[in-house]
Amino acid sequence: AIIVLDYGSQVSRLITRRIRECHVYSELVPATTTLADLQAREHLDIKGFILSGGPSSVYDEEAPGCDQAILQSGLPILGICYGMQLMAHQLGGHVAMAHGTREYGPATIQVVEGAESDRDTFRIFEGLHPSPEQTRHLDKPASKDPLRLPVWMSHGDSVDRLPEGFKVLATTESNPVAVIAHPDGLVGFQFHPEVTHTPQGKELIKNFLFRICGCNASWTPEQVIDETVERIRKQVGQERVLCALSGGVDSAVAALLVHRAIGDQLTCMFVDTGCMRAGEGEQVVETFRNHLHIPLVAINASERFLGKLAGVVDPERKRKIIGEEFIRVFEEEAAKLSVEQGQISFLAQGTLYPDVIESTSHDTASTATRIKTHHNVGGLPEEMTFQLVEPLRMLFKDEVREIGLELGLPEEWVWRHPFPGPGLAIRVIGEVTEEKLNILRRADTIVIEEIRRAGVYRELGQAFAVLTPIQSVGVMGDGRTYANLVAVRAVTTGDFMTADWARLSPELLGRISHRLVNEVQEINRVVYDITSKPPATIEWE
Ligand code: XMP
Repeated sequence: AIIVLDYGSQVSRLITRRIRECHVYSELVPATTTLADLQAREHLDIKGFILSGGPSSVYDEEAPGCDQAILQSGLPILGICYGMQLMAHQLGGHVAMAHGTREYGPATIQVVEGAESDRDTFRIFEGLHPSPEQTRHLDKPASKDPLRLPVWMSHGDSVDRLPEGFKVLATTESNPVAVIAHPDGLVGFQFHPEVTHTPQGKELIKNFLFRICGCNASWTPEQVIDETVERIRKQVGQERVLCALSGGVDSAVAALLVHRAIGDQLTCMFVDTGCMRAGEGEQVVETFRNHLHIPLVAINASERFLGKLAGVVDPERKRKIIGEEFIRVFEEEAAKLSVEQGQISFLAQGTLYPDVIESTSHDTASTATRIKTHHNVGGLPEEMTFQLVEPLRMLFKDEVREIGLELGLPEEWVWRHPFPGPGLAIRVIGEVTEEKLNILRRADTIVIEEIRRAGVYRELGQAFAVLTPIQSVGVMGDGRTYANLVAVRAVTTGDFMTADWARLSPELLGRISHRLVNEVQEINRVVYDITSKPPATIEWE
């Protein structure tokens, strides 16, 4: 494994992702983690460390340091930005404080003359080529020129005296110490190789992993499945496990992994809240029970949910009602199952690595017993005495998708957009009724069908229809209509924290609108939402 120490840069987790994309296992751990902490963990075969960037200066009073034992472990270390400065500082070099100037943005590093001759330190640049823009205007062969690479800089302080044994490998116009290295595998970058603005950043990371740390590219879906299955078997033994399916990819993959590990000791549960999309409940049953042969209890609780939602307009109250009702149904059904088939001790959940990184405890070694009050599948009851099985705890979303495909989850499911726990209840603006839900279900189906047909579904983060309480006047045939206004929302996003409205083609928008007003009688006007998040949110409620 490659251990990434987190000094608080906003892109620290990207480093871990880049490493995993190279099929090498990596974990992001707090900066305070010691070598002893890591060595106490079984099965963690550490091949090297990365010290991330961060907002501090090594001279800040509270500046986070690095366990000296890590720096002296003899294992390769890559320091990025603050990580490089920290490494230099702690190993006896000197860091010059910025006097109000910060270098931020694109820069070009240039390898210093003669650096190639030292093969031990130069491995970090092996196999890299000048970027195409750089060679385009050159007459002489590019190979005779010093290597120059575009990078993304972001720093205030800079290293001005190297620790013993280090050399400067590259400079930028404004910074004479942009890359440093020591023959023992210690490397420092003053720029960020993990961001896409450093086009050959991944190649640099690969060089660190494979040429300097000697990693194997063995973190593959098959390997992850084998290891996870082994871990689940050990944790669960002969006990029974319950998994609530939401219809989304995370809970489905969690269930598949648990089923692969312990077979029919697992029971899945799907609660239809009445606020699902068209055909969703049927699809869960079809896929899990008939296609994947996993025991599934499907509960149609629509009436209960819609009863509780009657007359409710406030979005937060809708959420609360659905969350609470979900817990009640879940508890009742779990209790029934325990009576019928024997005690259920474990609950499987699809918690992902980003959630784990976010929660402060950061305890990646043990399975936390706290149930995250995250809104997916409603927060689950705190007083329930389940132990948790979280097979996706160490995985990023894209890894979960790869594993889902490997385990036979249908492709359509693997790539499905996220769908909020409260479902269509927060897409019917105002009071939720069965009738309005039915209108919205038909509208939503058309929107998604057309988007899929146009081949843009995968490019979008989410796309859906919203049923507004606005009625507008229209004309159909010889008559006037007074019917519903539907809004279409489609966004592109990386992390759902920010999003942009999708530039769907006018033709596609036209087809969606045409079908909506022609096929759904209750709709006579369609608008497209062109607000980004922020200031708007993705959902309308
Ligand atoms: P917003 O609307 O806040 O949505 O920009 C960001 C993401 O969160 C989803 N979302 C929810 N998911 N329960 C959920 O499980 C909720 O109450 C909820 N509200 C929003 C939304 O669909 C988007 O993916």
